Amino acid sequence: MTIKYFLAALFIGFFNPIFSQQSKDPIIESKIEALISKMTLDEKIGQMYQAVGNKKIEQLLPMVEKGEVGSFINVEDNQLVNQIQRTALEKSRLGIPLIIGRDVIHGYNTIFPIPLGQAASFNPSIVERGARVAAIESSYNGIRWTFAPMIDISRDPRWGRIAESLGEDPYLSSVLGVAMVKGFQGKKMSDPTSIAACAKHFFGYGASEGGKDYNSTNIPERLLRNVYLPPFEAVTKAGAATFMTSFNDNDGIPASGNKFMLSNVLRGEWGFDGFVVSDWGAITQMVNHRFCKDEKDAAEISVNAALDMEMVTLSYKKYIPELVQEKKIDMAVIDEAVRNILRIKFRLGLFENPYIDLTKPRPSYKPEFLADAQNAAEQSVVLLKNSNNTLPIDTRKIKKIAIIGPLANAKHDQLGTWVMDCDKSRTITPLMAIQEQFGKDFEIIYEPGLKFSRDKSLEGFKAANAAAKKADLILYFGGEESILTGEAHSLANLNLQGAQSELITALKKTNKPIVFIVMAGRPLIIENETKQSDALLYAWNPGTMGGPALANILFGKISPSGKLPVTFPKMLGQIPVHYNHNMTGRPASGKETMIDAIPLETRTLTVGCTSYYLDAGFDPLFPFGFGLSYTNFKYDKLTIEKPTLVSTDTLYISFELSNIGKLDATEVAQLYVSDLVGSIARPVKELKRFDRIDLKAGETKKVKMSLPICELAFYGMDMKRNVEAGDFQLMIGGSSESGIKSNFKVTQ
Ligand code: NOJ
Repeated sequence: MTIKYFLAALFIGFFNPIFSQQSKDPIIESKIEALISKMTLDEKIGQMYQAVGNKKIEQLLPMVEKGEVGSFINVEDNQLVNQIQRTALEKSRLGIPLIIGRDVIHGYNTIFPIPLGQAASFNPSIVERGARVAAIESSYNGIRWTFAPMIDISRDPRWGRIAESLGEDPYLSSVLGVAMVKGFQGKKMSDPTSIAACAKHFFGYGASEGGKDYNSTNIPERLLRNVYLPPFEAVTKAGAATFMTSFNDNDGIPASGNKFMLSNVLRGEWGFDGFVVSDWGAITQMVNHRFCKDEKDAAEISVNAALDMEMVTLSYKKYIPELVQEKKIDMAVIDEAVRNILRIKFRLGLFENPYIDLTKPRPSYKPEFLADAQNAAEQSVVLLKNSNNTLPIDTRKIKKIAIIGPLANAKHDQLGTWVMDCDKSRTITPLMAIQEQFGKDFEIIYEPGLKFSRDKSLEGFKAANAAAKKADLILYFGGEESILTGEAHSLANLNLQGAQSELITALKKTNKPIVFIVMAGRPLIIENETKQSDALLYAWNPGTMGGPALANILFGKISPSGKLPVTFPKMLGQIPVHYNHNMTGRPASGKETMIDAIPLETRTLTVGCTSYYLDAGFDPLFPFGFGLSYTNFKYDKLTIEKPTLVSTDTLYISFELSNIGKLDATEVAQLYVSDLVGSIARPVKELKRFDRIDLKAGETKKVKMSLPICELAFYGMDMKRNVEAGDFQLMIGGSSESGIKSNFKVTQ
């Protein structure tokens, strides 16, 4: 039964603590109108154009002087930024400043873990801090606009851009996306260290068919609204200044030409009042999509769809004048685009304060930034296996350690994608950190075995084996190089690259315990290597301070607390695999017959008739939300304060969480809800809350969580967001796989 209660307004409760969408400032609005009334069409089109700031940027200054450029992407020198702004302010007719944008994705100079790694921390404050540090460092170079956060829901690790995402879950991506926006934009957007955020890629890009970058997506509207759009709505409510359209077409309509999404949903339903920029060349690429006959057609469609600024290509510049003359574009549409762009320039304080104060020292790699980056890396590492308490390294038993693998000392490759502005000599690798921090207490033997992750040569195996034989423990640092994820870096094979699997197999033969530390921008297919390892740590691309972070975890100064923000498949053919899939009519029971158990010449339909793979089963290698600790936690005494509620109520729950091990640690407690009957088939379960809880060894804490019932709303049969009355199951636990459960009911 559907509650006749449309929750558009109420739903804001979800974002209450973070709600900060700015209302329009009348003073700014009147300044915008005054400017627009004086602008020529060419000057308006200038605002709608983002040019590339390359080495020959000086040649573009005459255009700036004429008001023909609104923004630059990739100007890398702050003196040049001052020169450009001076030209715009002092020499152009109307003195409108430019907005300088760059991809500051997970750090500028100080590199934090890749966003997917940060998501594994399940810690919004750490994510916010990472964005703040990036904003402080990059704004000193004149960058006042970053193309982040990337909040594309990503369920396919073949897609190289999964590294830039916050994972597969809409709620986690919403909370962390909002945290990034807050970090970038700061307390006040006009602060010189605040940079405008850009929610990207709008929309659906993470669902590229087959995980191949730029590919089409086919997301029906209900799925779009229930899964892919919530993070974008959340960051809008949190005041994200700009949006970027994505490259993909969804169900045939390229995002840059989708008027329904850009006008009706983004601006109409959500009230977004910032500006939208296209992705690089995405407007003219609508010709390649065979959606537009030529660039003029593309410009007409994008402008009329309410896409305000064109990144790099020139279709707006070239064709808007004729299109206006031919009455195919109304001047009111152009004015609205300019209004949106100017609004953000005003909010950033660029009119009053366009220059960088170069008398101030460069705020890069400050000790506190490095400490923050290390903290983020420590919290992002996920312990996936730990047989026989192999970790933390037992100083009484282990005296000699062999450090092996292509990523033990790879200053560039532990940084991840999008690290254009950092100095790799600042990177501290695990080898460096272990030698420095623990070199006195242990004998460290370093033999990489392979020179880089794709290295297929077996030349180094002999030395690596010899090192392993001498040691009490092997630390194998492998995975994939930074360049194997990111834009246009999709892979069809997610096994370990190069001869890494062979090397691990060879090391296994030494019978020495192996700790496999994976550095990668995506979940890799590592079922075999997991079996061969005694302990497994997933470190993603941990950034500048990845070395000290990993050393602290390996040697037990810190217990790992990261949890997986994405499901790990056992085999490639299981993709897409995600925890919050819909219930099927024939869900797997766990009693299915696996391929090797099928008797010869069995008649068809004798294996179980449920939704699973004969060879892979139905469960993944590691589920969403999973991550071990050096201690054990016990969840108990789940209490629901009032188990029968109405849609305007808030559900209050409490439970006891105990650290029943011998080490202090942090647990990410997760609350999942299963809607037991709906007007449409419902997901198995959905993450609704999480909290990081610190517990001393032996300590028990009573944990409370609350959930406004309006957050159970979803787009059902009638394509409206409603809470549907009925029974729900709640689960509290340390992963999406299991936990303690209780039921509650929503009556109306
Ligand atoms: C293309 C990428 O898709 C986008 O994420 C990025 O921000 C722009 N290029 C600008 O570099």
